[in-house]
Amino acid sequence: MSSTHYAQHGSVAVIRLDNPPVNGLGHSVRTGIVEGLRKAEADPSVKAVVLIGSDRAFSGGADIREFNTPKALAEPNLGTVIHYVESSSRPVIAAIGGACMGGGLELALGCHFRVAKAGAQIALPEVKLGLLPGAGGTQRLPRLIGVEAALNMIVSGATVPSEMFQGTPLFDHFVEGDLLEGALAFARVVVEEGRPLKRVRDLTATHPKPEAFFLYARTAVGAASKNFPAPLKCVDAVEAAVTKSFDEGMKVEREAFVNLIQTSESRALRHAFFAERAASKVAGVAEDTPARTIQSVGIIGAGTMGSGIAINFLNAGIPVVLLEMKQEALDRGLASIRKIYEGQVAKGKLKADKAEQRFALLKPTLSYDDLRQADLVIEAVFEEMSVKEAVFRKLDEVCKPGAILASNTSTLDLNRIAGFTKRPQDVVGAHFFSPANVMKLLEVIRGEKTGSDVLATLMQLAKTIKKTAVVSGVCDGFIGNRMIAMYQREALLMLEEGASPRQVDGAIEAFGFAMGPLKMADLAGGDIGWAIRKRQYAERPDMRRVLIADRLCEMGRFGQKTGSGFYRYEPGRRDALHDPAVDAVIDACRKELGVTPRKLSDEEIVQRCVFALVNEGARILEEGIAQRASDIDLVYLTGYGFPVYRGGPMLYADSVGLMNVVRAMEGFAANPRGHRDFWKPAPLLARLAAEGKTFN
Ligand code: NAI
Repeated sequence: MSSTHYAQHGSVAVIRLDNPPVNGLGHSVRTGIVEGLRKAEADPSVKAVVLIGSDRAFSGGADIREFNTPKALAEPNLGTVIHYVESSSRPVIAAIGGACMGGGLELALGCHFRVAKAGAQIALPEVKLGLLPGAGGTQRLPRLIGVEAALNMIVSGATVPSEMFQGTPLFDHFVEGDLLEGALAFARVVVEEGRPLKRVRDLTATHPKPEAFFLYARTAVGAASKNFPAPLKCVDAVEAAVTKSFDEGMKVEREAFVNLIQTSESRALRHAFFAERAASKVAGVAEDTPARTIQSVGIIGAGTMGSGIAINFLNAGIPVVLLEMKQEALDRGLASIRKIYEGQVAKGKLKADKAEQRFALLKPTLSYDDLRQADLVIEAVFEEMSVKEAVFRKLDEVCKPGAILASNTSTLDLNRIAGFTKRPQDVVGAHFFSPANVMKLLEVIRGEKTGSDVLATLMQLAKTIKKTAVVSGVCDGFIGNRMIAMYQREALLMLEEGASPRQVDGAIEAFGFAMGPLKMADLAGGDIGWAIRKRQYAERPDMRRVLIADRLCEMGRFGQKTGSGFYRYEPGRRDALHDPAVDAVIDACRKELGVTPRKLSDEEIVQRCVFALVNEGARILEEGIAQRASDIDLVYLTGYGFPVYRGGPMLYADSVGLMNVVRAMEGFAANPRGHRDFWKPAPLLARLAAEGKTFN
């Protein structure tokens, strides 16, 4: 099937892009446009050409299915196509409805005239992939909408509705009614009036005070885009549109593009983009698996997680029944939900009536009877198997057939939980992250018997509530927490060996994590990790104990919630302050363990924490707990504050080189306190390293 269609309407040729879903500018589309233009050029009866897409999109830009394939760059490349369009002897009119983004907008900018429907979505989003528009966007857009507006769009990648450009030369005409009819009528006027061809390259981009403006722009953009080179390159390119000829400016843009596409930051952003798409494909779940309808949700437990989870559904307009054991707990949960909405209203993020509407969808209850009609119930009660058992037995009794029964457990065996019911096919894990109304990640835990339609439903629901869903198999801690336990373990062992909490957190934050491991432990609450450790010590007597953390917990230092943990906290504040009492505990533990403290380098701290993640990630991959390395990266980017510009632990390991990772691990194993077994490379890691391969 052809991805462009050529037709003639009187004296006007129409080239229609037809490459669903968004008319990505793949090789066949590019070829089709050039062929269409040639045909029009060779036909004396054709006086003008209209380029048009579908209702959904003029064009969404590059065809992502061709990314990283030779087709992406094959001639005619987008630059060549635009050159053809711009140098056509017949007027070429872009007829724009729906998405007109990236390369799609650049193509439109190459046309002599542009007509649009109101509501068309206009953007140059390349910066979001660590790039800049590479087919003249940085040179042509400033010539049409002005330097400042163009720079804003290019640096932010933001989508702007077409009507915002009314009065600028970006659009020559707005069409009401049928886009093709309107474009044809406009084309006839152009022909009848013999209007000269408007080539954007012939215009100039000016600014009254270019030097001052670009100085200011560099400072502002530089400060806002730490660790990302693309936004500043966008400033360079737009400046060239003002200070250089069109062709010279194009060279600046091209060089910047070629340079950016090779940066690790762009690679990381593109990786994350594709990881998100890949994660939605679940092995054994066909794309057309019918999802169950979810029109009402029950949540059990109105604590930290239950209240946060509820907000996600309320925001999506889905009614929630929130169940607690006692009225006080229910009142506390409701108060915390209300407080979050009030905070959003106070900050101007949400209108008061909207907040009320959402809150009104919440029905608090103490009775399981109110869950009888729920399509999905999510349990977020205490992390204890006996409590989960009681809840799931009860749910099995009251819930209607076909209801999905989900657990938010962070570590417990979902297969056992499913076994408390007579419908294990309906049981699934829905592991949210705290704060659940904010964090993007949702780990969907697939039990042995979880039905594929249940998985399909959760994946779809995740989109409705704007979460990034990643499927994990069942194991202790699933993907994210199982790995983080290794990272935390190393952080704590380094305290025994000679590092201070500040040094460990400082090194990890300099690497780019949003928060160091000890501050994170204080935020999450030391009691949670302690409870998990106590269970694990009992289950695995050979497990190495993390003495310092255990001692602090024995003292009731559970982190921010108790005003002290690895740091101390002033009442009502979250700043982590140095606490000499912690130094004393660390000293005492070192003595008890007979350790002579040594100086650790920041490099060692980063490598031990991050490579501990990588090694466990490799095991998780090999065991099939994660379906693909990029799923692990996505979990870390969206749930654990892993630096976005490094693309996740597995991509980071790939970029360091797996052989180098293995070598560093051998060094850590040789450390007398290193625990040889811990640093033994996972078989998958060892094999890939030996074969010179990568995870991704
Ligand atoms: P929480 O202690 O803040 O809340 C638990 C709530 O459940 C309490 O309000 C309690 O009254 C209620 N509850 C206990 N037993 C109940 C029962 N039988 N029926 C009805 N309500 C009952 O605990 P949190 O932190 O919200 O954790 C809940 C679950 O979410 C646990 O399984 C935990 O592992 C998991 N989780 C916690 C995360 C966190 O960062 N806090 C992150 C992800 C998962």
